[in-house]
Amino acid sequence: MQELQQILDQALQQFAAISDEAELEQVKAKYLGKEGSLTALLKGLGKLSAEERPAAGARINQVKQGIEAALQQRRDALQQSKLAQKLAAEALDVTLPGRGLGSGGLHPVTRTLERIEQLFHSLGFATASGPEIERDFYNFTALNIPENHPARAMHDTFYIDPQHVLRTHTSPVQVRYMEANQPPLKIISPGRVYRFDSDATHSPMFHQVEGLWVDEEISFANLKGVVQDFLQRFFERDDLRVRFRPSFFPFTEPSAEMDMSWKDGWLEIGGCGMVHPNVLKHVNIDSEKYLGFAFGLGVERLAMLRYGVSDLRQFYESDLRFLKQFN
Ligand code: PHE
Repeated sequence: MQELQQILDQALQQFAAISDEAELEQVKAKYLGKEGSLTALLKGLGKLSAEERPAAGARINQVKQGIEAALQQRRDALQQSKLAQKLAAEALDVTLPGRGLGSGGLHPVTRTLERIEQLFHSLGFATASGPEIERDFYNFTALNIPENHPARAMHDTFYIDPQHVLRTHTSPVQVRYMEANQPPLKIISPGRVYRFDSDATHSPMFHQVEGLWVDEEISFANLKGVVQDFLQRFFERDDLRVRFRPSFFPFTEPSAEMDMSWKDGWLEIGGCGMVHPNVLKHVNIDSEKYLGFAFGLGVERLAMLRYGVSDLRQFYESDLRFLKQFN
């Protein structure tokens, strides 16, 4: 039995010294294999007397279990260290700072549009919209600009086909809205418009905001009040003034160009007038009973003045160095 203890000690020692899995399995055979030392002892049991045999057998089994447990432990340990090595070799450095997604921002024209809407909403105007591909009828005819009328030449129009245009102004929304609603009406309609035109102050696509207020007693004075109030709030300048210069639009009568005071002079910011009776007739609104004013403001112009931008084209060149300044 002295021998058994020696076998166990030796096995434990040997296992502990091995660092290769295949080698471990080979050494295992030395103890537990067919020719192994424990196997030999088990075979020797037969030579013992019947009284001695159970105790000796139990003792040998105990050692066998001890060896098997040590073997398994060593296997686990080797596998563990192999895994640890692999992990170390394939490690990602998760401490590197990320590249980040960057935060987006609103385009300066979008910001301007939001500001315009907010201010007009506070003055009681609702927002209406219409299509950018517009029927010739709404863009011109219903606005008192019949076919072959010289006033069509005022607009450099993109035609889709003889009946459809990229709308040249937001005024067709006036007609669409009056067709669908009865007075009193009080709306603005901001949106994109298109003209065959391009230089530092003109882009083939730009934005306008249309205004329309139709009710029983609406006058030019209301128009001036609304526009001046809006502009004073928009530019945060109580001393800002608005003036009208007589002008011509087929869909308003009388018509005017609107200027606002800026530095030492005046800047043109849009057109306006009292809705022409012919336009009201087109949409079955009684022009004896109702009056209305309409105006159209250039949104890019307002954005340029507010932000101090001198070339309108910069808004549409998608240069992040420019655009990032507004966020
Ligand atoms: N639609 C006109 C333009 O684009 C502006 C305007 C709007 C004039 C409303 C009068 C009334 O030039």
